[in-house]
Amino acid sequence: MSHNSTRTDPSSSPSAAPSIAPASGSASIAPESSELRVVTTPPPPNVPSLRVMPDEKASGLHLRTAEVPVRWLDSLFVAACNMPVGAGERAVAESIVRALAEILPDRGVGACLAPPGETLQIVRYVPPGESQRTLGSSPTRLFVGFDAEIVLPVGRRDATLHLGVLDAEAAREGSPEHDLMRRAALALDRGLGVARSTERARDAARELRTLSSHMVQTEKLASLGQLAAGIVHELNNPLTSIVAYTDLLLKRQLTVGGEPQDVERLRRIGESAGRMLKFTRDLVTYAKPSRETAIAVSLHDVVDKALAFCEHVLDESRAKAIRDFAAESVHVRGMSEQLAQVFVNLVTNACHAMPPADGTLWVRTRILGSGEGVEVVVEDNGEGIAPEHLGLVFTPFFTTKGDGKGTGLGLSIVKNILDTHDAGVRIEARSGGGTRFVMVFARVEP
Ligand SMILES: Nc1ncnc2c1ncn2[C@@H]1O[C@H](COP(=O)(O)OP(=O)(O)O)[C@@H](O)[C@H]1O
Ligand SMILES: [Mg+2]
Repeated sequence: MSHNSTRTDPSSSPSAAPSIAPASGSASIAPESSELRVVTTPPPPNVPSLRVMPDEKASGLHLRTAEVPVRWLDSLFVAACNMPVGAGERAVAESIVRALAEILPDRGVGACLAPPGETLQIVRYVPPGESQRTLGSSPTRLFVGFDAEIVLPVGRRDATLHLGVLDAEAAREGSPEHDLMRRAALALDRGLGVARSTERARDAARELRTLSSHMVQTEKLASLGQLAAGIVHELNNPLTSIVAYTDLLLKRQLTVGGEPQDVERLRRIGESAGRMLKFTRDLVTYAKPSRETAIAVSLHDVVDKALAFCEHVLDESRAKAIRDFAAESVHVRGMSEQLAQVFVNLVTNACHAMPPADGTLWVRTRILGSGEGVEVVVEDNGEGIAPEHLGLVFTPFFTTKGDGKGTGLGLSIVKNILDTHDAGVRIEARSGGGTRFVMVFARVEP
């Protein structure tokens, strides 16, 4: 083969500006936007060619012999130095294909990236005027309709580099084109390696950031819980006094036959303070670390307690709660605080998903079979869970709530607690929109 440096000189044929163009018959190709602007400095006159010495074996290239024009090597060297390793493997492959297309504008140049389990990616340049030729789209052939094709593996990666030629001589091992391609494959190998590790490092850093922000959030919640317990403790004493003194005053008013309106007012004060006291006591029990052991607990009491805790959340989302309990009392073996947490979490999620008006929450219990099991349904008419999220919602830290509104821990805690109670749970989409959580417990004697 006679290598003709004029023919392959890109600067001598400005109309042949290479572009990595979509190739017909191939599914994955370079982005349409990759119209190339070739800026080539005209080579100095009489560029000497480089004779590659056989002792280049040391470089791992094992080149036999070739006269590779210095200008080709120079362009490849510049391209290798400028590989966009931070922009991903495809971008790196594009940059090398681009450089080769600039060096050899009348040859077909391509790269094939086939990482296992991922879609095959092809980056290809077809010289102008050759677009009618058949193209392949597998790592074995990209330029089927050309007279010959050089296919080189890129290191030990799942990638290949291709050169389609119209003179079989150019594809011969040891030809300048062949040697250029081997160097390009070496550069691409390194580039892909760096791109991959850059990507991995970036992923790891991203994961670390997410994890640390979750930890901060979890820590924040834990300290909030302690804080709340402290506040509640402080409230307990004055509330106890209010309840006791209201009671005393009420009794006195009744004995002296006081103003009926005042009696009624005192009764209301006593009632309100009593409610606050009950709530604070329940909250303390709920917030303190659980050292519970499993006993027979009344399921309906647990659900009612959870609903009482959630009154505020329900009010805020303007949702109404409808209880539809089995007529008999139902006991399950479990830890009532933990079970309450299951329902608090489910109700809270439902409230977050509620529409602005007419939000409804249903809590239903139903005896199963001949009485050995009980089904609890928590259902809402909210926005529902996207089908692609159904398999993810029990994963710790999975949340679709931005702005720090969600921790993504609620449902993973629910799942944990239900697992320790040997209770099953499934999620169903509610017809007409919304979500239904169905739990099944074994029933025990009270
Ligand atoms: N009742 C529901 N309606 C709609 N989406 C829900 C419901 N319950 C849970 N989800 C979805 O599951 C995700 C995980 O819930 P969860 O573990 O409680 O975390 P968080 O509420 O902090 O986001 C939520 O972000 C939401 O996308
Ligand atoms: Mg939640």
